[in-house]
Amino acid sequence: MSVNTVTTTPIEGQKPGTSGLRKKTRDFMQEHFLENFVQSIIDAIGGVEGKTLVLGGDGRFFNDRAAQVILRICAANGAAKVIVGQNALLSTPAASNLIRKRGADGGFIMSASHNPGGEDEDFGLKFNGANGGPAPESVTDRIFARTREITEYRIFVAQDADLSAPGSAQMGGMEIEIVDPVADYAELMDQIFDFAAIRDLLGAGFTLRFDAMHAVTGPYATEILENRLGAAPGSVVNATPLPDFGGGHPDPNPVWADDLMAVMMGAEAPDFGAASDGDGDRNMIVGRGIYVTPSDSLAVLAANAHHAPGYAAGLSGVARSMPTSRAADLVAEKAGIDCYETPTGWKFFGNLLDAGRVTLCGEESAGTGSDHVREKDGLWAVLLWLNILAARRQSVAEIMRDHWAEYGRNYYSRHDYEAVPADRANALIDRLRGILDGLPGQDFAGMQVEAANDFAYHDPIDDSVSERQGIRIIFTDGSRIVMRLSGTGTEGATLRVYLERYQPADGNLSLPVEEALAPVIAAAEDIAQIRDHTGRDRPDVTT
Ligand code: G6P
Ligand code: ZN
Repeated sequence: MSVNTVTTTPIEGQKPGTSGLRKKTRDFMQEHFLENFVQSIIDAIGGVEGKTLVLGGDGRFFNDRAAQVILRICAANGAAKVIVGQNALLSTPAASNLIRKRGADGGFIMSASHNPGGEDEDFGLKFNGANGGPAPESVTDRIFARTREITEYRIFVAQDADLSAPGSAQMGGMEIEIVDPVADYAELMDQIFDFAAIRDLLGAGFTLRFDAMHAVTGPYATEILENRLGAAPGSVVNATPLPDFGGGHPDPNPVWADDLMAVMMGAEAPDFGAASDGDGDRNMIVGRGIYVTPSDSLAVLAANAHHAPGYAAGLSGVARSMPTSRAADLVAEKAGIDCYETPTGWKFFGNLLDAGRVTLCGEESAGTGSDHVREKDGLWAVLLWLNILAARRQSVAEIMRDHWAEYGRNYYSRHDYEAVPADRANALIDRLRGILDGLPGQDFAGMQVEAANDFAYHDPIDDSVSERQGIRIIFTDGSRIVMRLSGTGTEGATLRVYLERYQPADGNLSLPVEEALAPVIAAAEDIAQIRDHTGRDRPDVTT
């Protein structure tokens, strides 16, 4: 057994995006591609000599092969120890927890989140730091710079490590500790939530359906919901992680989790439905006959978190991404705590969480989480909901009705125009930037513009400023339009139009969403001329 130093040359396009490097699986399988990227990460973080790292992924195609390569490169670079999930599996929040719990120096997470998996689909790799959160831009910039000048990587010549059972193995001087991917995470959930109360609820006949979408949360949800909390066997469906996620899109929203939506809107619906994504950080919440938007879910969780033992002392503050509805702001205002508005992207919550400014955060894109880890956490959101339902003994629909009756309702929807030619999408945004200053005071669809700007974020912890994060048009009646281009698309540009209309507590709280939003939708078209620019007369996806 020895270290092989392999001569290589830079490979184009290894720039980490919002959440690590995401590419076609076949790109990752090209000669030197993964090796170059892993060595570049190691070089960019100042080496791994003597360090302890965590490794795991969502089980998609190439997960097992990539894990062996990463282990060999870590061993050749002098790492002291790598803690790996059994069969190289770890959900993203479980990996974040393991890094924090074990005081590791960081970790490699193999995932392309909710993107489809398979040989012809997507793969991804990202590096998280010692706080358990995604590497900040300063680090990902260094990684990218390194990928452009790399000349060699070091790899250990060894047999594959056997990762099929918990235990310990040795690769040269490096220890490999193989852990049950679920155990530490389940223990953390048990500390935060009142498992006894949830067990009582389920024992009293409360029924649920959790759709793991053939992705990584299957084993987590089965262990926690069925084995520990007593949900009926079979409550967790699509529970076996598959390398291609069963050919589906493991993205928990009403479009891709349409099976679950159909069950929850049907006559035989259980009391509670939920789903998570490929790597387990996103969530979708559905009650019998009622879909809960991620924005509303954040607000309800913020208003009710004190029912869970982990949040009994209240919240230090909450944060939401700018396009997320302002429902959470109303909860924070009433509770007398701070509410922060950040750009899209979980990494912007990291500083606020590390500094203890916020306890809960969330995004309209189905991410919710807290200071228990430094990633969003799908199953955590499901358990917080269950804890609240167990404490309040009301249905999801009743909880939503009570919430709106107390705070008013932020009707909300997102319209996506996908794969728009980049020049047309940019022209739409550029034109908006040009007319923003003249909008205040003008009327559209019977509503008057109060303010219009391009969102800039000033991080209160490190003083960094992120500009041009999305166009906001706010109306005097509290309605709001946000428009921005997606930072995660892979084909052309995706225009996201976020629409919000507020009805106070004594207003009409039970309108169909499309009807409530009709004037806001009309105003967005009037102002941005979406049809002309995109050539489409309706959005491709509405969530
Ligand atoms: C990923 C990120 C989220 C972000 C979402 C949508 O899931 O982790 O933080 O909200 O993508 O981003 P986009 O730029 O496509 O709207
Ligand atoms: Zn994800």
